[in-house]
Amino acid sequence: MIDWHYPRTELAKSYMNAFDTGITGALALFAPRRMGKTEFVLLDLAPEAEARGYQVGYCSFWNLQDNPAKALRIALESISQKHDWRAKWASYLGTTGSELSANIVGASFKLQAKPQEPDMEQNDLLAIIDLFSKLAVQKKPTLLLLDEVQHLANDNYASLVATLRTQFEEHRKKLHVVYTGSSRDGLQRMFRDRKAPMFHAAQQVEFPKLESDFVAFMLKAFEQASQRKLALAKATRIFNRMNYNPALFHHLLRHMVIKGVYDIETGYETFRDLVDAEADYQALWEQCKPIDQAVLQLLVKDHELGLYSEEARQIVGDEIGIEQVTVKAVQNAIERLRNEQILYSLGRGQWEFEDPALKDWIMAR
Ligand SMILES: Nc1ncnc2c1ncn2[C@@H]1O[C@H](COP(=O)(O)OP(=O)(O)OP(=O)(O)O)[C@@H](O)[C@H]1O
Ligand SMILES: [Mg+2]
Repeated sequence: MIDWHYPRTELAKSYMNAFDTGITGALALFAPRRMGKTEFVLLDLAPEAEARGYQVGYCSFWNLQDNPAKALRIALESISQKHDWRAKWASYLGTTGSELSANIVGASFKLQAKPQEPDMEQNDLLAIIDLFSKLAVQKKPTLLLLDEVQHLANDNYASLVATLRTQFEEHRKKLHVVYTGSSRDGLQRMFRDRKAPMFHAAQQVEFPKLESDFVAFMLKAFEQASQRKLALAKATRIFNRMNYNPALFHHLLRHMVIKGVYDIETGYETFRDLVDAEADYQALWEQCKPIDQAVLQLLVKDHELGLYSEEARQIVGDEIGIEQVTVKAVQNAIERLRNEQILYSLGRGQWEFEDPALKDWIMAR
């Protein structure tokens, strides 16, 4: 089997050093979608932590979206079992082509958070508290990897967040946490609004993007798969053009292997439809209401204009053929776009695209 995972060992070490030297007890990693957060925590950070004598747990709150307490409970219960990270977490690592294209943009757009039954949640919370105290008395320290944590920003899960807060506070010597999530807005809201030491205690880190050593590594893997060499400079240019998105780049190389294309520029042109997020953007665009589209266009073009100003609403109205667009209507559009994780808030009424490439796509239209 060819290894397509570019190891980020140094990065993993530096994060673990921050824990081991007591610089921080919790880290929050921020990055746009599909930039390799999950692969990093599962394939680099978890093994590094285990090598240092930690027991490691992973929970994706994307899993069992309606029931995050249960997802965490299951994750905690499975901590003591021995891990083969790749086998165990295969379903979290986008490995198949179809899954990949479905995931590039679309993954987070179907979220509907429903509260679970109160009794059930109560049981899960009690179990979680019990599991935490059992972990805390063990000799090994514990590293908890909490992925897609923006789902907890939903008010329905306030009691779970409160429980986590007290548990992390109580066991902070034995328990370290890494939060990851795609929606910076969701994470930031949690860090800001809930007066939770659990989040305040976390060091917020901009997850670094991959660079040309990643490209070089991937070309080696390509060479093993195809016995052909690709030029690094050209490949790096294409990776940059893909906004440093490792998912798209990996997808492109896979297609070239399968179809026997050995020039990356040709590959890029040939498989554009597949490896560009564009097809997904088109689908996403078509799902948006006209007013949401108009608001997005406004954000792309007239960033300075206050979104709710008379002038801005006039522009939105002209775009969709309505005379009076109310402030409320714009607010609703923003709320939808935020819920769909298309936009996130920079605070003070400023909005930014979750995925910068979507912004470029709208600009180019
Ligand atoms: N270190 C790596 N080496 C090789 N390919 C990688 C690496 N990291 C990410 N990829 C590629 O990018 C894809 C997306 O990675 P991953 O799922 O970790 O991103 P993510 O940031 O967690 O995305 P999301 O925001 O959707 O959860 C992987 O399926 C893989 O194809
Ligand atoms: Mg992920």
